Amino acid sequence: MYVKKLFIIILLTFTITSFAETKIVIKFSHVVSENSPKGKAVLYFKNLVEKKSDGRISVQIFPRGVLFDDITVVEALKNDIVQMAAPSFSKLSFYVKDFQLFDIPFLFKNIYSIHRAYSGNIGEILKRNSEGNGIKVLAFWDNGFKHITNNSKVIKLPNDMKGLKFRTMGSDILNYQFSLAGAKPYTKSFSNLKSLLEEGVIDGQENTFSNIYYQKMYEVQRYLTVSKHGYLGYAVITSMKFWNSIDKELQDIILEALEISTHYEYKLAIEDNERSFEMIKLEAKDLEIHYIDDKNRALWVKFYKRYHEKFTNVISQEILKELDNL
Ligand code: LMR
Repeated sequence: MYVKKLFIIILLTFTITSFAETKIVIKFSHVVSENSPKGKAVLYFKNLVEKKSDGRISVQIFPRGVLFDDITVVEALKNDIVQMAAPSFSKLSFYVKDFQLFDIPFLFKNIYSIHRAYSGNIGEILKRNSEGNGIKVLAFWDNGFKHITNNSKVIKLPNDMKGLKFRTMGSDILNYQFSLAGAKPYTKSFSNLKSLLEEGVIDGQENTFSNIYYQKMYEVQRYLTVSKHGYLGYAVITSMKFWNSIDKELQDIILEALEISTHYEYKLAIEDNERSFEMIKLEAKDLEIHYIDDKNRALWVKFYKRYHEKFTNVISQEILKELDNL
């Protein structure tokens, strides 16, 4: 009897210990709404990874910047306060400068050339350099091309931004993009954006239709220029420390779930930006929408091409060389 009891205790202890050892909790922090492409893809990833791991991995999602904004989240990640995040490339460029490549205005013609960059050598270099900074890049996600909103006047050409104050995500290249046009860049986190626009602290901002829609920025902005001048993408990241602390089997499950979620996210991002634009047109009562015709678009491109070197000076030669192969 005693031996049987002892055996059960040993078995239970072993089961509890091994369960405790393999069960991991991932706190996933992001700044956008649950309905946005990123928000939905994070939820999709959570469900998938929990299922695939038979509950050994549990994901807790913290959306809308409730825990951290995109700038502070990287430090929180490094300190293991959260384990996953998906900040924009611009915000990651505080750690790895080359992420700013995607901020250069009019550099990428379409989403396919961006995907070629992600999946080719450029993606590999960015991943390697991130690892050197303690950051493990697990996937690249899309949002889409950005457009300009403001409260002061119709922006038809870059110089129309002169004197206006625009919120930026803070990379050097995004700040140049506005300052070269005579505007004043003002770096702030995403969560404060709508109230800064509403209070008139800033005149305008740049973002995708999806972010403009879900943050209801159209309620506090008078003008929208469909400029498609730059790109907003994300890196899904964890810390090297956390990554190396988990079993290879669980790493593979995470990567597998992320690969499937990434395909879903790409599709969602395209559809959602299209739908968001339709919703903006439907719901925005006082928003004047300006479309740039081909002639003026060529002028925008020409304007920024003049400063190509200023932009590329920020990027490493290693990455720039790869651009020719895209
Ligand atoms: C922004 O700050 O404008 C974006 O990076 C927010 C986001 O995560 O899409």
